[in-house]
Amino acid sequence: MENLDSKRLPKHIAIIMDGNGRWAQEKGQDRLYGHFHGVESVRNIVEAAAEIGIKYLTLYAFSTENWDRPAAEVAGLMSLFVDTISKEVPSLHKNNIKLHFIGNLALLPEDAKKALEKATETTAGNTGLELIIALSYSSRWELIEAIQKLAQQVKEGLLLPEDIKEANLSAALATSGFPDPELMIRTSGEYRISNFLLYQLAYAELYFTETRWPDFRKKDLIEAILDFQSRERRFGKTGQQVQTNDENK
Ligand code: FPP
Repeated sequence: MENLDSKRLPKHIAIIMDGNGRWAQEKGQDRLYGHFHGVESVRNIVEAAAEIGIKYLTLYAFSTENWDRPAAEVAGLMSLFVDTISKEVPSLHKNNIKLHFIGNLALLPEDAKKALEKATETTAGNTGLELIIALSYSSRWELIEAIQKLAQQVKEGLLLPEDIKEANLSAALATSGFPDPELMIRTSGEYRISNFLLYQLAYAELYFTETRWPDFRKKDLIEAILDFQSRERRFGKTGQQVQTNDENK
């Protein structure tokens, strides 16, 4: 941790927590056993992110596409979400963590909706790490929702089509108010973005690791941040322009 440059930390890290199923199957266990152990990694990484000084952490917990998994796995995951969120809220609250949920939450079972509402309300006044859980989320769903909102504003005469700019679109997204992630981590050796924050990841550094999510711990997060800090972020500029800018800071 002492090798981290505290002045160049990513403000926002997004993680695709992949490999729970394979981790469990490799141990001859049911897939849900993997999800259950994945919660330990969530706890460890949330704690580590807060300690390191990351301001925003987004975790992809359940995608729109995950609804098509076997019914028993979906039901198991839903009750794991409800149990975990209800159980962890007091400790998250004590640690000044503010919870947010993004996704098509209307599709969730009633008890899950209630648990999320309560967690959001309880932690609303906190000022530490902002923990964003993407649940029943997909980027295409989010973009369509946003476009519909903007189209409605145009229809009502509140907005001209030519006034639609990045700022309006960003504000209409589920992530409105959060800065774009600077670092996206995906575990378990898959090299895809899988319908996750497609618009927001435009300039993110992508980091892939073979480690399965249930094995991912603070040291792995630090490794990913160190890798991020070793990269030159150019935003379409030349390396020379970036270096001159840095020297003038
Ligand atoms: C992907 O692994 C993981 C999921 C679909 C579920 C992730 C959920 C948790 C870790 C629980 C988190 C809980 C809270 C409250 C945030 P996979 O099943 O796709 O693994 P595979 O690719 O090996 O099959």
